[in-house]
Amino acid sequence: MPFTLVTVTVVISLVLIVVKIYSKLTTGWDRSYTCLVGKTVVITGANTGIGFYTALDLSMRGARVILACRNREKAEDARQKIIKITGNPNVVVKLFDATSFDSVRAFAKDFNETEERLDILVNNAGMGTKDTPKTSDGCNLVMQVNYYSSFLLTHLLINKLKASAPSRVVNVSSILHKIANLDPEDLDRYPDKRPFSYLVAYGNSKLGNVCFTVELARRLKGTGVTVNALHPGLILTKIFDEAEGIQKFLLATLASICFKTPVEGAQTSIYLSVSPEVQNVSGEYFVDCAKETLGKKITLYDFRKKIWENTENRVCLSREEKIIYE
Ligand SMILES: NC(=O)c1ccc[n+]([C@@H]2O[C@H](COP(=O)([O-])OP(=O)(O)OC[C@H]3O[C@@H](n4cnc5c(N)ncnc54)[C@H](OP(=O)(O)O)[C@@H]3O)[C@@H](O)[C@H]2O)c1
Repeated sequence: MPFTLVTVTVVISLVLIVVKIYSKLTTGWDRSYTCLVGKTVVITGANTGIGFYTALDLSMRGARVILACRNREKAEDARQKIIKITGNPNVVVKLFDATSFDSVRAFAKDFNETEERLDILVNNAGMGTKDTPKTSDGCNLVMQVNYYSSFLLTHLLINKLKASAPSRVVNVSSILHKIANLDPEDLDRYPDKRPFSYLVAYGNSKLGNVCFTVELARRLKGTGVTVNALHPGLILTKIFDEAEGIQKFLLATLASICFKTPVEGAQTSIYLSVSPEVQNVSGEYFVDCAKETLGKKITLYDFRKKIWENTENRVCLSREEKIIYE
């Protein structure tokens, strides 16, 4: 019996070590030396996790970096850290709460009135929850934070992006878009209550994200604005703080062994934001700084069109704000 226990422990440890080594060896790194002096960047959810390290890197390259965050205090802390580490004082906090379309509109209005240009927009803010609440706009919370608000923000900033071209939009999605069960006619519908249905709900928002990326790229052809989506990897951040009980224990154990760090998790966002290798690439999905094949559904125009049009309605775009394929 003790022998079996020892064997099992050794086998599990070996498997975990192999996973760890594999995860380290396959992490993609941005190796470019792109200078961003004179460029302006917006990163949503930049006060912590992947967004923070993306902001840190782009600040290091000399950009004017706008931290679009919902909590001023946390964002100020992040701003001070970034300035201290990079020596770049051109880091600014602007309030942005993805649970409210009014807040997204207020952010965009202020940005458009006060900023001269926009070279890189990183739609990074995201969350997951086991609950199924509605926002004050009457939307599924996870859909609104992870997808609708990025869709709306990008529409409201598109003229600045076009005027600053070549410019880039980077959408932080997730591999969980592959388990989505999104109804294009009823985007807000929560999946039926089953164990792990909250992961499907999260996947739905991230599928929305990837479809948005592909369709936006089509509509922006010839404008000099590119748009790509990514999965950052499994990254140890506070996004997993919601887990409880045994799930929390398993996550904590797994995370400490095989999850990547937030610095590693930021690499594909940074790569898509600055690498010359992808300056003319648009409408693609990346993992570890490498292009991956899009799922079949995402390539279907009718599927994307339905999602696009229903999202336009959800975020209440005016006719002038819509991005029309020309
Ligand atoms: N970590 C992973 O393994 C993983 C895997 C796949 C995809 N992703 C995606 O990567 C992105 C970054 O996540 P992360 O792992 O870095 O998580 P994180 O550490 O929890 O950071 C999420 C960021 O989004 C912000 N945010 C959440 N709700 C918001 C709202 N209503 N309005 C404005 N900002 C809001 C958070 O602000 P507060 O600090 O104020 O809450 C925080 O700055 C997300 O889109 C996530 O879905 C992460």
